[in-house]
Amino acid sequence: MPVAYEVPRIDALSAPPPSVQADVLVVPIAEEHSPAIFVEFDAAVGGALGAALARGEFTPKALETFGAAIVTGGWTASRILFVGGGPREEMGPERFRRMAASAVSVARQQRRARVAWLDVEPGRMEDVDRIDVLGEAFTVANFDGGIHKSRPDPRFFLTDVTLVSAAAGAADRAAAGRIVGDAVNSARVLINEPGNFLVPATLAEKAASLASVEGVTVEIFDERRLEALGMGLLLGVGRGSAEPPRMLIARYEPAGAPADVMLGLVGKGITFDTGGISIKPADGMERMKDDMAGAASVVAALRAIALLRLPVRAVAVVASAENMPGGRALKPGDILRSASGLTVEVNNTDAEGRLILGDALWYARQIGATHLVDVATLTGACIVALGKITTGLFGTPQPWVDTIRAAADRGGEKVWQMPLFDEYKETLKSDIADMINSPGRPAGAVTAAMFLKEFAGPGPWAHLDIAGTAWADEAKAWMPRGATGAIIRTLVELGRGPLPR
Ligand code: BES
Ligand code: MN
Ligand code: ZN
Repeated sequence: MPVAYEVPRIDALSAPPPSVQADVLVVPIAEEHSPAIFVEFDAAVGGALGAALARGEFTPKALETFGAAIVTGGWTASRILFVGGGPREEMGPERFRRMAASAVSVARQQRRARVAWLDVEPGRMEDVDRIDVLGEAFTVANFDGGIHKSRPDPRFFLTDVTLVSAAAGAADRAAAGRIVGDAVNSARVLINEPGNFLVPATLAEKAASLASVEGVTVEIFDERRLEALGMGLLLGVGRGSAEPPRMLIARYEPAGAPADVMLGLVGKGITFDTGGISIKPADGMERMKDDMAGAASVVAALRAIALLRLPVRAVAVVASAENMPGGRALKPGDILRSASGLTVEVNNTDAEGRLILGDALWYARQIGATHLVDVATLTGACIVALGKITTGLFGTPQPWVDTIRAAADRGGEKVWQMPLFDEYKETLKSDIADMINSPGRPAGAVTAAMFLKEFAGPGPWAHLDIAGTAWADEAKAWMPRGATGAIIRTLVELGRGPLPR
């Protein structure tokens, strides 16, 4: 089977552009580009840039590309690919990531394996921060998910990326970006895998091998262990499937990290969500293989945090089950007892994510996580509210939510806070148990989060609903169809701290 991606060599160095060796030089251009930059590169391509701009062939709006041959003597490379950045004030991490990815997509189509990015346009970013983002983006863009084709499409990957920058520390930041890009791609591979290739036991094994880097210890709990821990919610969801549920715990405890904080990353790992007895309609159900994106994301983030040697204790807790309507499956109306002791009347077996996360959040707190974040493809209602563009952010107290929002801003990911007013709690009332799991359509993303809150215990907790953002339905210049790896960068940024006390 072919691999889905290759991690290119990435160098960062300072050099005059004519001396840079590559199959193509990528030059970013903002709409309000500086005349000096323009003159040097326009001369190199014999005026082709100026002519294209004059004819309106190249504007340079965001992500437009324009390729031209270098016709002047004295240059080592033979081609320049100009990539538009749009207005400079818009050129933050997300824009640079998409510019790099758009350039990679052109380079790969043209079979150019060695690419150099000339870092001549700062946008609205600090120089070294940009190098980090570029190192990551060039790695993420070197991906082709069609690994199950018996006759794979002709595949072509970049081998070498040179980031030409004079910024101090650029080489280290490029290497850091590459680590994050590699982690993002490893998650995308898992998320793309169909349900017959990935069941809870294999998800746990693959996640364990991703997390097995220096400084990390990994444990997998099988169904007997889950039984002993009283994890009735996770076991209940798993009961309708021939494939038993699993929980994975990966701890990163670097020497010298502050002892009084521990970041807890909790992920939803439903390897396939049929809905169970409250079965989903056939149309689009195949998408539900991505219902373990939260699990893949938290494990990938922990891997990157450990490889970057960030000075923070962190644990990833993944709850995994297959939600199936088998003969022993949960039935609507069944009552489950959670590890925390709370009882739940399951009025809808398709609201399974909040059930397994209830046990996982409780366990993460139990083993000492002080600052919790869970990541889950939790609700269709979140897609109704925010579409495919924005991740739903919920949590308490506000400084913790603000910390996560700031991490998302640095990482160039879109999150938007949703409310958790106490009044919503009424919707969870059950006549015969502590709560129901599915209050119905109004504010569905909020009431799901209210359910999770009951299991998060005292202390900071946040919930990221990636139902809309985990999967791209349409290919874009910067991202193919399929798993996106959303929110991993935000979690890694969170790991850089500081965490609010
Ligand atoms: N995994 C789904 C949520 C989902 C739906 C993610 C569509 C991505 C696309 C989740 O388990 C689910 O089924 N949620 C239900 C909850 C309802 C029964 C309260 C939903 O959103 O319909
Ligand atoms: Mn469901
Ligand atoms: Zn689900």
